[in-house]
Amino acid sequence: MLVSAKEMLAKARAGHYAVGQFNINNLEWTKAILLTAEEMKSPVILGVSEGAGKYMCGYDTIVGMVNGMIKGLGITVPVALHLDHGSYEGAYKCIEAGFSSVMFDGSHYPIDENIAKTRELVEVCNKKGLSLEAEVGAIGGEEDGVIGGGEVADPKECKMIADLGVTMLAAGIGNIHGKYPENWAGLRFDVLEAISNEVGEDMPLVLHGGTGIPADMIKRAISLGVSKINVNTECQLAFAAATRQYIEEGKDLVGKGFDPRKVLAPGVEAIKATVKEKIELFGSANKA
Ligand code: 13P
Repeated sequence: MLVSAKEMLAKARAGHYAVGQFNINNLEWTKAILLTAEEMKSPVILGVSEGAGKYMCGYDTIVGMVNGMIKGLGITVPVALHLDHGSYEGAYKCIEAGFSSVMFDGSHYPIDENIAKTRELVEVCNKKGLSLEAEVGAIGGEEDGVIGGGEVADPKECKMIADLGVTMLAAGIGNIHGKYPENWAGLRFDVLEAISNEVGEDMPLVLHGGTGIPADMIKRAISLGVSKINVNTECQLAFAAATRQYIEEGKDLVGKGFDPRKVLAPGVEAIKATVKEKIELFGSANKA
């Protein structure tokens, strides 16, 4: 059964570890992530961007697939199905379709509008027992057509949004979606600390752009209140590299090597290895 992310993140915040949000793209992705979380006895959040939602034929298809897979694979760890960087309309569509968690990314609105829309969604999600992630200060880079300016969040604005009763708060602290450039200045721990002080120690903070952030920075971010870390590009890179290797080695040309289950298998294993490494780094193994 899908669960809200509220309890798993409250435990993570109190226990000084983070739960991974791994974005899904298709059946293989979802299966790889669920099986790895189960193997590691870790709670997990499946992230769905609006672009990936369209690709997978809509939110109803995704809810059906994930619920079916939890049952079919005998998954026992807590799983939240979460809309990633949702628009206002997208959040409502996912709530209706049966997601257990949504992000409303109002960071591109003026703060008053972000507050008004987030407040409304807090009420709707509370009534239905769903978790809600809000955002202040846009994450840099591009994800599935959502382009962020990379603004660093204002801790006072974070406090205003946190006080609305959101479950978790994403705040821009110099993090970027996709690969980090060579000259990246690193995370703004001064800002993260100020945000953490403003919102208090019960508010789980979310670190987007988890791909390529060095382990020491991840650990420091967790020590300052980050309880959810989003990873997307790293699984994509691992999947693409393993698939390329299979084809370049001509394995699809040998026997029934063209069988799609065989062609996709190395990529699936690569996703599993990436997810396992992140769960270990984030400290959520054996916390289910
Ligand atoms: P990356 O693609 O950089 O890992 O970011 C993922 C993310 O933040 C999803 O919201």
